[in-house]
Order: sequence, then C-alpha cells, then structure tokens
Amino acid sequence: MYHILISDKLGKAGLERLDQMDDIQYDLKPGLSKAELLEIIPSYDGLIIRSGTQVDADVLTAATNLKVVGRAGMGVDNIDIEAATMRGVIVMNTPGANSIATAEQTMALMLAVNRHTAPAHASLLAGEWARSQFVGTELYGKTLGIIGFGRIGRLVAERAKAFGMEIMAFDPYVSPETGQSLGVTMVDLDSLLAQADIITLHTAVTPETTRMINADAIARMKESVILINVARGKLVDEAALAEALQNGRVRAAAIDVYSSEPPTGNPLIGLPNALHTPHLGASSKEAQRNVAVQIAEQMADALRGDDVRNALNTPF
Ligand code: MLT
Repeated sequence: MYHILISDKLGKAGLERLDQMDDIQYDLKPGLSKAELLEIIPSYDGLIIRSGTQVDADVLTAATNLKVVGRAGMGVDNIDIEAATMRGVIVMNTPGANSIATAEQTMALMLAVNRHTAPAHASLLAGEWARSQFVGTELYGKTLGIIGFGRIGRLVAERAKAFGMEIMAFDPYVSPETGQSLGVTMVDLDSLLAQADIITLHTAVTPETTRMINADAIARMKESVILINVARGKLVDEAALAEALQNGRVRAAAIDVYSSEPPTGNPLIGLPNALHTPHLGASSKEAQRNVAVQIAEQMADALRGDDVRNALNTPF
C-alpha cells in the first residue's frame, strides 16, 4: 500500500481516480502549517501539491519515506528541485493539462484591460452611465509580444491571431523556423520590448528570468505599452512596474500573479490602470479536472515503479 498526502486542494475527479486504486491510500489535508507538514510527512510515500505548499529542503529532509512529489499544475517554483534530487525524490508536474485555461485567461485579461471592463462594471453598479469615460482600444492590428513561446505562449498566439494581431515572440529555445511555421516572428528581447503594443509573459521563473521586467526593461518598451502577466509574479519588479503605471510609461497592466500571494502590501494593488485577478490562470473546471486526474495517475504509476512521466529531475 502506498500512502499519499494531498496538502493543497485537488479536483474531485483526481480524488475519485485515487479512490479506484486498491494499492493507494491518501489523506487530503489542505492548509497545513509548515510545522504540521514536517510532523506528518515522514509517513508518506507521495506528496501531491498545487501552488500553496512550499516543498523546501526542511520538508524534504523530514520526508524520509517520500519517493515522489507531484505538482497538479505546471509551475514548480514552490519546490526545491535540487534538494529533492539530492534526496532521491522524483518531482513531476502536469504540463499541458491547464494550458488552455491559462491562454484563455490571458485573452480575457487582454480584452478586459483594453476595454476597461472592470472599472466600467464598477461605475455602472455605482449608478453611473459614463460611456465616454470608457472608450477602449482594439486588439486588431496591434503587435503582441509574447515572452516565452512554449505551450501557453503558442496557444495565446493562435488566439491572438484570430483577433487580427501581429505576433512576435522571444524565446531563446525556439528557432525562427518554428516561429515561422506558426505564423509568429521570433525576435530578440530588445526588439520585442521596442515594438510590442501589448506584452504578455509566459515563461518560468529561473535565475535568468527573475525580475526580467524591471525598470531597465520598461524603459526600453514602447510608450503606452500594456503588460499582461498570467505566468509568475517574480518575473516582474513590481515596484518598478507600479512606478511606470503611475507615470503613464506603461499605459495599463493586467496582473493575475504576484511575487507573494496573496499580494498584501503589493505596490500594484489599487492603481487605477491595473486590473487584477487572484491567480486564476488555471482555474477552469476543465483544467482542474485535467491536472487532478493526470497527477493521480502519474503518481500511482511512479510509486508502483511502472512508469515515470513528466519528471523534472533525475534523482540519484
Ligand atoms: C500552474 O503553474 O499550473 C498555474 O499557475 C496554476 C497553479 O499554480 O495552480
């Protein structure tokens, strides 16, 4: 029998999938404190998480029986992969399972920020009929700059093309030919910053990408650019972006993710030209079902030694 701890909320379909497995027992305990997690983790073979649980070196050291950490979702910035590797623990995620949800949220925010949907809604509820205050801008004919041209970046490109946008992308790991085959011009970062009317981020947080959108990058952007971030808050120097939004250098931003979540004290919150959602990129019913079922199956197969899919490390 394999014992799995699920320490963040997981879609019902994933729990049902685990219920069907005779050799798997699980405990669903979302919202544990770090001390509680450290106390109980030694009895588990597997740990399923989303973005809430921090799987740091302390947790991995205490997890003396742990074989697999499964991230129901894509981002693994809450897992110390190096420490896991050193302790022989496999780290896996579910790439692709929530990409459509994230791409659709990107489009939703891009449209909403250009058409002032949130302030117009608030104004109408306040009894106003301020049509002239909320004249927007169209996506049609604008240049979209996609930073990070993996699964989600490509899905955004497909959708943005349907709106008649010109698409350019920066991704050092993608060839110009691949971009061309998808109708996208691959460019260097400077060209993208200088030419894009709207910039959207779809890259992981790494030492190279952390705070890549800082004061210097903002200074190289087109006047009145719009920034969309549905990837990770740590890609952006939030103080620099807040300043640029205040002085109009950046016209508007739509932000779903924050360097620290929830974003208490975040300088972006409350600015009139910033639209916010609480990390909802992957929050569609379909995506939650997909990631939950996929991680349940991957975790069981890995614990049984049958198959290891979507591993991000090769444990010693
Ligand atoms: C992801 O990385 O999969 C998304 O940001 C959603 C999440 O954090 O759960």
